[in-house]
Amino acid sequence: QCGIAVERRIDCARDRSLSRAECESRGCCYLPLPQSGLRGPPWCFYTVFYPGYKMGPMLPTERGHRAILTRSAPSYLPRDIHTLQLDVMAETQDRLHLTLKDPTSPRYEVPFVKSQSKGHKSMENPLYDVDFQPEPFGFSVRRKSNGRVLLNTTIGPLLFADQYLQLSTSLASSTVSGLGEHYTPITLDLDWSSVSLWNRDMAPHRSANLYGSHPFFLVQEGDGQAHGVFLLNSNAMEVFMQPAPALTWVTIGGILDFFIFLGPSPQSVIQQYQEVIGYPMMPPYWSLGFHLCRWGYTSTNITRTVVQLMRQAKIPLDVQWNDLDYADQRRVFTFDPQRFGDLPQMVEDFHQLGMKYVLILDPGISSASPPGSYKPFDDGLKKGVFINNSTGQILIGKVWPGPTAFPDFTNPTTQDWWMDWIKDFYNKVPVDGLWIDMNEPSNFVQGSVDGCPDSELEKPPYTPGVIGGQLNSGTLCVSAQQYLSNHYNLHNLYGLTEAIATHRALLKVKKTRPFVLSRSSFPGLGRFSAHWTGDVRSDWEQLRFSIPAVLLFGLYGIPLVGADVCGFGGDTNEELCVRWTQLGAFYPFMRNHNDRPNAPQEPYVFSQRAQDAMRMVINLRYSLLPFLYTLFHHAHTSASTVARPLFLQFPTDPDCRSIDRQFLWGSSLLISPVLEQGAVEVMAYLPPGTWYSLHNGQTYYSKGQYIVFPASLDTIIVHVRERSIIPQQAPALTTAISRKNPFTLTVGLSVGNLAKGELFWDDGESLDTFERGDYSYLLFFAEESYVVSKPIKLNGSLDGLVLGEVRVFGVQTPPTAVWANGQKVPDFSYRLDTKVLTVAGLELPMTAKITIQWS
Ligand code: NOJ
Repeated sequence: QCGIAVERRIDCARDRSLSRAECESRGCCYLPLPQSGLRGPPWCFYTVFYPGYKMGPMLPTERGHRAILTRSAPSYLPRDIHTLQLDVMAETQDRLHLTLKDPTSPRYEVPFVKSQSKGHKSMENPLYDVDFQPEPFGFSVRRKSNGRVLLNTTIGPLLFADQYLQLSTSLASSTVSGLGEHYTPITLDLDWSSVSLWNRDMAPHRSANLYGSHPFFLVQEGDGQAHGVFLLNSNAMEVFMQPAPALTWVTIGGILDFFIFLGPSPQSVIQQYQEVIGYPMMPPYWSLGFHLCRWGYTSTNITRTVVQLMRQAKIPLDVQWNDLDYADQRRVFTFDPQRFGDLPQMVEDFHQLGMKYVLILDPGISSASPPGSYKPFDDGLKKGVFINNSTGQILIGKVWPGPTAFPDFTNPTTQDWWMDWIKDFYNKVPVDGLWIDMNEPSNFVQGSVDGCPDSELEKPPYTPGVIGGQLNSGTLCVSAQQYLSNHYNLHNLYGLTEAIATHRALLKVKKTRPFVLSRSSFPGLGRFSAHWTGDVRSDWEQLRFSIPAVLLFGLYGIPLVGADVCGFGGDTNEELCVRWTQLGAFYPFMRNHNDRPNAPQEPYVFSQRAQDAMRMVINLRYSLLPFLYTLFHHAHTSASTVARPLFLQFPTDPDCRSIDRQFLWGSSLLISPVLEQGAVEVMAYLPPGTWYSLHNGQTYYSKGQYIVFPASLDTIIVHVRERSIIPQQAPALTTAISRKNPFTLTVGLSVGNLAKGELFWDDGESLDTFERGDYSYLLFFAEESYVVSKPIKLNGSLDGLVLGEVRVFGVQTPPTAVWANGQKVPDFSYRLDTKVLTVAGLELPMTAKITIQWS
């Protein structure tokens, strides 16, 4: 009974350390080990057949199968639920859905998350088999094609008490990604570690629960196949990992609602996950430009000067931001009459320059202004929009404006009130997007200004390992009451619900694609919002870890994501800021943002050399926006990833498994940034195949190897993959202008002289253009000695736009003549050393079929 390999021991004493007697009184094994320390195998662990639930017969239901589980012996937990209902739903060929709940008394279940995804696509031949062990209850899921056991929950007991739900499972490999939001590499450490999911205002650092919760992980099975597991549960949670490999979910409320995605490719796992939580929104084109912000632009004069200096430095800038500085006494929906008196005019002026403007909106509503002097609060009070404490009075916390109340966005009345105030503000200040910060929600006092009651909710039998040690640390009392449930259940959804309300409000007032940037996140956020990684420090380590952070949010269905370029906390320096700008130019969302006390870090404050490097790479980003925008179109319509980890594109290459110092844009651009101080070269992995330097077309044939590339301060290493065609456009100071510039096609030929690519194009801001069919779509392909651009669909959005240039990488024989649409082109060049053919000076309408041919 106790003869279990050490790495497979499942901890029976997670709540506190137990003596032998206490351990054995739980019915567990007690076998001390020589090593001690905080991390390591447990001494007190469950026996092999630790008593749990017994499963009754499986009966068919409309949606699958159902069985009743009963527990005869009580567990050691308070308020066991003795009878459970198991539902097993084979929803699609590649998606299995399994729920465990209390059939007699309904428990909290997560609202808002599930998209309308339909099951029963084709249930002929599911990719999985499920087996059950009736007693003690457990199940295993196998991949039918090769018999691989993906999950096996019989390795530990199922515990299901009111405030403690636990399920262990074996893992098919040790390469696991997900379970954010944490400061981790792209693959998790399974060496007796744990991660807690409880949204928290916390600057990213190791082992802390951060701003968002994503109870989803993907396992690379080792042969290129992958699967994913999603536990749809929003309660405070801790996931324990051990080298078996295995993991144990512990959540302190709700139900167990598991989705298992069979892939088999890692990319398809992500798509199957996003079918459940919803595909990401299509961002407005301008939001892919460069954004500039800082806390400490304390007046419109200062903000205007920033824009002016950027323009003088000739560095592209699409979106100027203001932090809380704008607000009158830091109260949202107001602006300071002195320092920001001409805010409406400033925004108009930015619009005249073809720019956009975004400002911050915190959820904390000042509650201490004299009655009648701050209408958003008075009105909210009247309408009952705020979260109440457990005894029914408005819960008051403290945030930037001082005492604050917190809107309950699960309440439809609150959503309308929020919309009304956004509309009211918008009518004065025509913002283009909204930045929703502090929405974990963050609170500077613990729970409330009056503390929290002493209750089972505030101090549950088990509290996951969260920063501050208590659920109400840095946030509201979890016993607070919201419209749909208590804060204990809804806490992790606060940011998501605020994003939904904000998105809806912008939709209503602007009638164009909303731009919302949210700090707090939960599955499904990507349908409504972009995300940034919070208060990163200006140092090299944080620069480096921003890559896995961004890539993981792509897996979570929030592709429009970035870290604060040059770092938020602490002083940056010129070299770091240049390198960060180079990497940031390849974050899907690129914003330079800085904290109040720090040295300035706008591009123009640095030396000419640094400015040149930054200008160059931001221009490079702008030149690639047609390609990036097309990637977002695919994310929106088919959940393909934008910034993509290498393993997703090259799943069978074992060298790619955990690479997170490099990444791809889509399938064809490989970005290999400098991440170390003083480095002037990068050791970059090139997966097998032919790669071309994006800058000059130089060819690298890789067998799947690391190559050292020189990368002086003005260089970021970017490679184009063979077989791809990247649409580019000449950059400009704003996307309003660059969107009208001539296009370039960059063609990376394969050994057999093939390549293809595409362009999605529309007006960049209208709603549902794809869904309404109001867009243009071009296909590009190259074969032998020609490149073709072929309109598949046109809606007028490409009218007047021309193809100006074609660069073909990997042309083996020097061409002697080039034709464009049959006409001889005088202006072409070919470099013998790099084998690059450049055909410039073209002016061919993008709306017609174009053929460029050489011989
Ligand atoms: C915290 C946010 O993370 C940061 O970006 C912002 O500048 C400050 N709040 C002030 O609003």
